[in-house]
Amino acid sequence: MKLAAGLVALAVALTSVKADVAEWGQCGGINWSGETTCAAGLVCHSYSDWYFQCARGTSSAQPTVTSVTPTTTSVTPTPSVTPPTSTGFVKTSGTEFTLDGSKFTVVGSNSYWVGLSGFSSEEMSHAFADVAAAGGTTVRTWGFNDQTDAGYWGPYYQLWTNGVPTVNTGASGLENFDKVVAAAKANGIHLIVALTNNWSDYGGMDVYVQQITGSTNHDLFYTDAQVIAAYKNYVQTFVSRYANEPTILAWELANEPRCRGSGPNTSGTCTPTTITAWATDISAFIKSIDPNHLVALGDEGFFNRPGSPTYPYQGSEGIDFDANLQVSTLDFGTIHAYPDHWGTGADALAWGSGWITDHATSSSLYNKPVILEEFGMLEDKATIYAAWFDTIESSGFSGDLIWQAGSRYSWGDTHNDGYAIYPGDAVYDLMASHAATLKARP
Ligand SMILES: *[C@@H]1O[C@H](CO)[C@@H](O)[C@H](O)[C@H]1NC(C)=O
Ligand SMILES: *[C@@H]1O[C@H](CO)[C@@H](O)[C@H](O)[C@H]1NC(C)=O
Ligand SMILES: *[C@@H]1O[C@H](CO)[C@@H](O)[C@H](O)[C@H]1NC(C)=O
Repeated sequence: MKLAAGLVALAVALTSVKADVAEWGQCGGINWSGETTCAAGLVCHSYSDWYFQCARGTSSAQPTVTSVTPTTTSVTPTPSVTPPTSTGFVKTSGTEFTLDGSKFTVVGSNSYWVGLSGFSSEEMSHAFADVAAAGGTTVRTWGFNDQTDAGYWGPYYQLWTNGVPTVNTGASGLENFDKVVAAAKANGIHLIVALTNNWSDYGGMDVYVQQITGSTNHDLFYTDAQVIAAYKNYVQTFVSRYANEPTILAWELANEPRCRGSGPNTSGTCTPTTITAWATDISAFIKSIDPNHLVALGDEGFFNRPGSPTYPYQGSEGIDFDANLQVSTLDFGTIHAYPDHWGTGADALAWGSGWITDHATSSSLYNKPVILEEFGMLEDKATIYAAWFDTIESSGFSGDLIWQAGSRYSWGDTHNDGYAIYPGDAVYDLMASHAATLKARP
């Protein structure tokens, strides 16, 4: 038995030597024990001590930054005409978004499930077509799924084994996200893509921290040097793959970053300053590898105004909205609204309208767009959303994405977490008429 096992191991070792690493595959980095030779035409680039990746390009120890340089038309001099402002990418101008020099309205929905449910391209396209038919322009989705089990049933983008992350670039990995992007593009939908999660759904920050440090202190995600390096490696791989893809509207550093995570543990030293410093570093890093795309934090929009009467204004979760909006490498602000979960549900309609107008004030003050990129009520959706939509339309607030527009398939409806609305619902029609109003707003 032992001899046989040894022979099998030897055979496997000999075989693996011959399997050169394909494009986007890992070829080195700290504790990497896999193949280090790239397939023909590819070079093993060292992105950091942690992650080497096979990519096209000439031999170099540096990342292939030149391969992500935008091929914008704006660098071509056109002396006798006004220089084109169009790059094909969504940009910002003051408190508005723009595309090809015209106003671009961010309105639509969230869909965490479109890329993480094992959907075919046709099923993905169906989801985007529903949003587009309601006048939506934008869908926010997850560009992460960290797993520790290689046998995970569905798509995932990073696998962790004994503290070592490996980006999954295959059919169940980034090739799956390629399909999400293609399906959105086919329906004229732009994507806002969050790159990790505060919450432990789909892995997220706690997996990085626990795998690398062995600690359960959620906030080490923002301060531990090895964790930051590992997250940057993931971001580098993901972002550079789509750096020239205009279907991506923006990258978000995380979904709902907070000092506290799903568990109770923190190091006790995380404050709003901690997350602002982290967001400044990571957003600048993304801009350095992908100057084409907008970058946002992906937070809930909590103000840091200690002594305020309601919790979302008190700064207790480690977010300072106004400080973050002033970070030069964060292009727009994001806010969420869940009065049921935030102790403000008793008068959700009025509270939510005030939440929107208070952020519209910051938007004007710092001259950047702000979007209500998640909102949801379990009850009274029609009445409350109608009031919030009115506030958005009249306050000059930049745009919004509902949580969440579901879709109906032959096999059934997408998951209803209590917030979902579906084509044919009265609230779905309300969303569609709001999209039309917002797009018509001067
Ligand atoms: C890398 O390998 C060394 C030696 O095996 C080990 O001590 C260290 O913990 C490993 N690092 C990670 C991040 O797994
Ligand atoms: C972050 O996640 C933890 C648990 O996953 C949760 O308790 C906490 O409220 C979350 N915060 C946000 C903003 O999502
Ligand atoms: C919090 O930390 C304690 C002490 O290290 C640990 O026993 C406990 O399991 C942690 N709690 C969670 C939810 O991770």
